Amino acid sequence: MCEALVKRVQQAIDDAKEHKSRLPKATMDVRGWISPKIRYLLNNLCSAPDTVYLEAGLWQGASLISALAGNEDTVKAAYGIDNWRNCPKGRSMKGRFDTHVRRHLGETVPNLTVFDADCLKMPVAKIKEPATIFYYDADHYATDRGTMRFFERLASPCVLLLDDWYNHQPIQKHWRKAEAEGEMKVVKEWELPTKTKGDLDLWWNGLYVAVLRRNHAIT
Ligand SMILES: C[S@@+](CC[C@H](N)C(=O)[O-])C[C@H]1O[C@@H](n2cnc3c(N)ncnc32)[C@H](O)[C@@H]1O
Repeated sequence: MCEALVKRVQQAIDDAKEHKSRLPKATMDVRGWISPKIRYLLNNLCSAPDTVYLEAGLWQGASLISALAGNEDTVKAAYGIDNWRNCPKGRSMKGRFDTHVRRHLGETVPNLTVFDADCLKMPVAKIKEPATIFYYDADHYATDRGTMRFFERLASPCVLLLDDWYNHQPIQKHWRKAEAEGEMKVVKEWELPTKTKGDLDLWWNGLYVAVLRRNHAIT
């Protein structure tokens, strides 16, 4: 099962490098802290049947919309979390997020639940279905707590993505701590490069992608 997922992630990355995906072009207009390759990769990953997508750190919605748009037939459920407090322009970005979601995903998105909440505090039981893909792009200084507290709500195996892998140093240290202390272990990881800060040709500030599985599931 892990082997098949590893292959699927590799294919999703290879396709994203060539800008191949089902992502509608118009969604590129949504401003975000993200590069086109990351948009395509999120979209490719969510094109797998029965996807349950979880994202912390939504801002104006660029990454969430990239994951979901065009994947209405494959995404079973999606959960997004942001408190729109620790971001540039603050609460006004919640309005932009709502507008962008309506424009690109539709007036009602029955399988999407958005939590206006602190991802370091909200009860994780609110994530009703185990996530098959978890994109963490919220508080980078709390990547250990921010990822670990959701481990119990992740499917095994699943895919984890951490943005800003190279240009925000605490992330790597915090993720290694989370992996050492938590029950989700890395089966395979990819460190996707960047040449500059906010690299629009490559992977923004670097992207970490991993296939994880629950430790006690290892036989
Ligand atoms: C870099 S932005 C996310 C960018 C977005 N993923 C994109 O593609 O454009 C980080 C977001 O994380 C949110 N955030 C930071 N700390 C948070 C926390 N503890 N709980 C919820 N959201 C948080 C901020 O409000 C901000 O919107």
